[in-house]
Amino acid sequence: MSINSLLAFDRGRSLFLPAHGRGKALPNELKQLLKHRAGVWDLPELPELGGPLVSEGAIARSQESAALGIGAKKGWYGINGATGLLQAALFSIVRPGQYVLMPRNVHRSLIHACAISDLRPVLFDLPFKSDRGHFGPPDEMWLEGVLNELLFTEVKIAAVVLVHPTYHGYASDIRPLVKMFHKRGWPVLVDEAHGAHFASGLEIGLPCSGLSAGADLIVHSLHKSSTGLVQTAALWLQGELVDPLAVERSVGWLQTSSPSALLLASCEAALMEWRTSSGQRKLSARIDEARQISSRLRELGLPILSNQDPLRLILHTALAGVSGFEADDWLIARGLIAELPEPGCLTFCLGFAVQKGLVRSLKRGWETLLEANSYKQSLPSFVAPPLPLLMVPSIPCAEAWRSSSKSIPLEDSVDNISAELICPYPPGIPLLIPGEVLNQSRVEWLLDQKNLWPNQIPNQIRVVSDQKLN
Ligand SMILES: Cc1ncc(COP(=O)(O)O)c(C=O)c1O
Repeated sequence: MSINSLLAFDRGRSLFLPAHGRGKALPNELKQLLKHRAGVWDLPELPELGGPLVSEGAIARSQESAALGIGAKKGWYGINGATGLLQAALFSIVRPGQYVLMPRNVHRSLIHACAISDLRPVLFDLPFKSDRGHFGPPDEMWLEGVLNELLFTEVKIAAVVLVHPTYHGYASDIRPLVKMFHKRGWPVLVDEAHGAHFASGLEIGLPCSGLSAGADLIVHSLHKSSTGLVQTAALWLQGELVDPLAVERSVGWLQTSSPSALLLASCEAALMEWRTSSGQRKLSARIDEARQISSRLRELGLPILSNQDPLRLILHTALAGVSGFEADDWLIARGLIAELPEPGCLTFCLGFAVQKGLVRSLKRGWETLLEANSYKQSLPSFVAPPLPLLMVPSIPCAEAWRSSSKSIPLEDSVDNISAELICPYPPGIPLLIPGEVLNQSRVEWLLDQKNLWPNQIPNQIRVVSDQKLN
């Protein structure tokens, strides 16, 4: 079957990303554009259009106006997802050989950035929710502990990354966190891929955005948390700690020389929608509806976990003795297609389309799943990864990844140094990064994870040749 033939047919209720719900919630302006003769909108960087890095033209004006609207000093549209803009943002604040403090739940794109440019990640551990196997967000006290631990190391931090909110919609108040890093003079990059709607400016009970928290660079994935087409994203700059020219240069390193005009129009439409009263009503209605859906499902007895983003619905399948993967297969067969299956949960992304009848469908799907598995006990709780509060890879990530390496069975890898990333996708959170030492407890934990994440963790691992510790 060709790719083309697979795209258009109906495949059930889309509770996955992109958040526009298979076109239903695309901004009207974009829907109108797509009604024109197919392909007519596929234009190069004509003078009147320009591009994200061109100072004249409609795109430059649109970026300026979007930055003003959201309260940033400067903004860039991105057409390689949050991935491309996160990497560009990181390159603008950390130089080769410098250290960057980041949480353990960082997206793999930032580890890739470290490998590309020889940046040195200093990974801090996070609170772990063992009933479901998720990392939670750190609070001020947690980060005080991290900073104390940092005093025992030799590293000099150049910048900090925060992930806010997480894929599952967990978020803490990041205002004090940004402040504590600023006190030390460190610029803060917030990966707000899943939280563009936090920055809508509406009083609808969502967590504070990185912009309001005073972070220096903030990246939004517009297809994950706004109504953009896949690959659309935005990067915002504010404050005085980061040089806009450095950001501009880094964006230029990673951007195609032929950015898609359609995707740029989609960035604009998604961002401008929440500046209009109809767009604001739509967002507010979706948030209300999402809150009603989760409270109704809870009343009906479905194990929906608490989080801070109403648009992420986490079904705690482990309670029924089934993994999120089994639940996903079951529900897909019944026309309900989730976003993120994991060992203990199945996460649905409600997105910005109306979700009529969802409570009924989920209730029915869940009840039949329970019936089919009625003999099962709840799954045991999940074991936290055996990680120190702070970890600096024993050899730089960039060096380990490029080193001469050999492939050995995971179970025989104790005391070796990893030459690769182990990273189930989704969610794209690395369980191991290149340069980390595979100690006994880590290898045992990874072998356990292999059973929990079917086909996502290889039997063999590439380790750095001639670097066995014992
Ligand atoms: C936390 C986080 N950041 C960044 C990304 C990358 O986003 P994009 O797909 O827009 O490149 C993801 C993707 O899953 C993510 O979960």
